[in-house]
Amino acid sequence: MSLARTHLDRLWRRGRDFLGTEVAIMGGAMSWVSERHLVAAISNAGGFGVLACGSMPPALLAAEIEGTQALTDRPFGVNLITMHPQLAELIEVCGRLRVGHVVLAGGLPQASSITRAKELGAKVMCFAPTALFGKKLVRLGADALIIEGTEAGGHIGPVSTSVLAQEILPVVRDVPVFVAGGIGRGEVIVSYLEMGAAGVQLGTRFVCATECVAHPNFKQAFIRANARDAVPSAQVDPNFPVIPVRALTNPASQRFITFQHDVIGRFRKGEIDQKSAQLEIEHYWAGALRKAVIDGDIENGSLMAGQSVGMVSREQPTVEIIADLVDQAVRALDSRETLEATF
Ligand SMILES: Cc1cc2nc3c(=O)[nH]c(=O)nc-3n(C[C@H](O)[C@H](O)[C@H](O)COP(=O)(O)O)c2cc1C
Repeated sequence: MSLARTHLDRLWRRGRDFLGTEVAIMGGAMSWVSERHLVAAISNAGGFGVLACGSMPPALLAAEIEGTQALTDRPFGVNLITMHPQLAELIEVCGRLRVGHVVLAGGLPQASSITRAKELGAKVMCFAPTALFGKKLVRLGADALIIEGTEAGGHIGPVSTSVLAQEILPVVRDVPVFVAGGIGRGEVIVSYLEMGAAGVQLGTRFVCATECVAHPNFKQAFIRANARDAVPSAQVDPNFPVIPVRALTNPASQRFITFQHDVIGRFRKGEIDQKSAQLEIEHYWAGALRKAVIDGDIENGSLMAGQSVGMVSREQPTVEIIADLVDQAVRALDSRETLEATF
């Protein structure tokens, strides 16, 4: 093994030990995309796949976990959305099926959810939007944190990955911290590891994996897109907030702007009350991710994608995606070591 690879393994040892993997690269859960095939492929390639529960009921989640276990004997995690109405039952399903890692996403989790998942034997990972919340989550029992910058695909916060990393990595040292959002190559993985990250989480980069079940139209949209095509959802009036989601622009995202103007116009004319107007706006995207990922309707569905989409240029086996990332990381370290030897 090269000196640089040994160095890389030292840099992400904490992450590898926490995940139980060869490389500390997590395949971030993506609703409809991260089902058994992609998750197992990532774990079989030495990374850490994470199943997206999304809005699945407990029985469906159980079937998906068992399906994944049939495809891999390597560690993988399950991502649960905290506002799921059956969160408690979903945690029990993870416990019953001996899921090793539970990722609690979509808002700050209750202490009771963290405690119960841990009682059932899982390591719990939570998303930390700030250093302060990160420390609070650790006090509540989180075993590891994920920080996700605004470059990411899907639901996003307002702060960039590089700023979050500078704010959180130097001060949260007691648990492993994984960095997500905008990661498309190995060089940047090295940078975050050197800043103190235990590992990384990538979503967008895995969508065009051969094993990923996303519709060919969805994958083609990723292959064609540039970084600047992945933009946050537009909001036309601060009185009618829109949940920020980063996705590729398409006819549906264009129509969303006129749709909001129409709904707000009806509210102003007194035809509907504010609550109904807000609900109509929120309902616009219901079922839209499934429409794009599964049905391949890329005009009317939601094309959630991160800015790293510009680095997705073709369909590739998962094992190759991970090997590319590791190669790039090793070469970055190797060139530094060569430089040090020269001067
Ligand atoms: C299509 C899509 C769906 C996603 N769905 C979820 C989800 O259900 N739960 C979640 O915690 N994160 C979700 N994410 C975020 C990813 O897990 C991951 O953190 C993110 O993609 C990392 O940033 P990147 O896209 O720049 O690699 C989604 C991302 C994408 C692109």
